[in-house]
Amino acid sequence: MTAVSTGVVPPAGSVSTTLVIEGLEISTVHVGDTRPLVTDVTVSVGSGEIVGLVGESGSGKSLTALACLGLLPHGVRVTKGSITLDGKTVTAASEQELRSLRGPKIGMIFQDPMTSLDPCFRIGRQMVEALTAHEQVSKDVARKRAIDFLGHVGVPEPAKRFDSFPHELSGGLRQRVTIATALLLDPHVLIADEPTTALDVTTQASILQLVHRLRDELHMSVLWISHDLAVVAQLADRVAVMYAGEIVETGDTQQIFAAPKHHYTRGLLDCATHRHRGEPFGFIDGSVPEPTEWATGCRFANRCSFADSACLQHPEVTGSQQSGVRCHHPRGGGATS
Ligand SMILES: Nc1ncnc2c1ncn2[C@@H]1O[C@H](COP(=O)(O)OP(=O)(O)OP(=O)(O)O)[C@@H](O)[C@H]1O
Ligand SMILES: [Mg+2]
Repeated sequence: MTAVSTGVVPPAGSVSTTLVIEGLEISTVHVGDTRPLVTDVTVSVGSGEIVGLVGESGSGKSLTALACLGLLPHGVRVTKGSITLDGKTVTAASEQELRSLRGPKIGMIFQDPMTSLDPCFRIGRQMVEALTAHEQVSKDVARKRAIDFLGHVGVPEPAKRFDSFPHELSGGLRQRVTIATALLLDPHVLIADEPTTALDVTTQASILQLVHRLRDELHMSVLWISHDLAVVAQLADRVAVMYAGEIVETGDTQQIFAAPKHHYTRGLLDCATHRHRGEPFGFIDGSVPEPTEWATGCRFANRCSFADSACLQHPEVTGSQQSGVRCHHPRGGGATS
């Protein structure tokens, strides 16, 4: 694996950084009303690297992912910053250019496999169509490659499953099919938005193993989105934690787990640990504020027991390229920690 920073700022002169999100702001844009939903998001994913993007519901993870694919919902736009993929600026691409990036350059899997699979068509036909839309290959070659990929992602009896309808497969198998379909085009980057959340723990674990194996074999870069830090811990090389539309901490996975700097990350970790042990504790009081409720200072201050008057100012990210935190009183960083 080529270890590449996904720190607050991408490493200068890095040639192997594949996906670079820099100072990203996403807003709802209606006549006379522009309201930010995601602000100042900077994350990069290196070649062959798995980066976990974590945060509670409503923190802006999916919008960030959709912006990478040029798939933001109607009325929602990138209003600042940039996203580049292998040096190509996604945020300045035309619809036609975006279509050619999706699939071969950047693949996506969603939480619900039925979002990507059409229930009316056999999975094989859908895979073949995905491939022939982007590559000039015969149907026979496409069929063979699709069956190979089904086998590759652990679908048993792939030649038989090729002719199944989506509803004939279990949730875990359907998710493997969507992974195989995304991988068929050999994307440089795979963006996975909570793809295992709806699956049982055993299936989830086998899919995490699969993604790890595929990253090693295909040298694919992965942005893995989850609200569950425990899942990200099993998978990611690096972690970016989002809260209320912004990144509050980045670092390598071991460091984030051993010594989180942001009090929000600490809270998320406690939640994950308690849940793992089956204990009924471990939650962060309150909830992620809606964008209309963001404080002008630190957006986490009203849930943080370390907040003081300094937190009335909006904190900037401090730290190194490898690990950064957006907090006036980071843990391990002074008397208040
Ligand atoms: N089309 C839209 N128009 C207006 N606001 C939106 C739109 N889509 C999302 N939002 C708001 O943007 C914020 C971020 O949403 P997003 O879906 O990115 O969160 P998320 O971190 O993916 O949450 P979850 O874990 O629930 O999937 C939320 O406050 C949401 O209500
Ligand atoms: Mg989401």
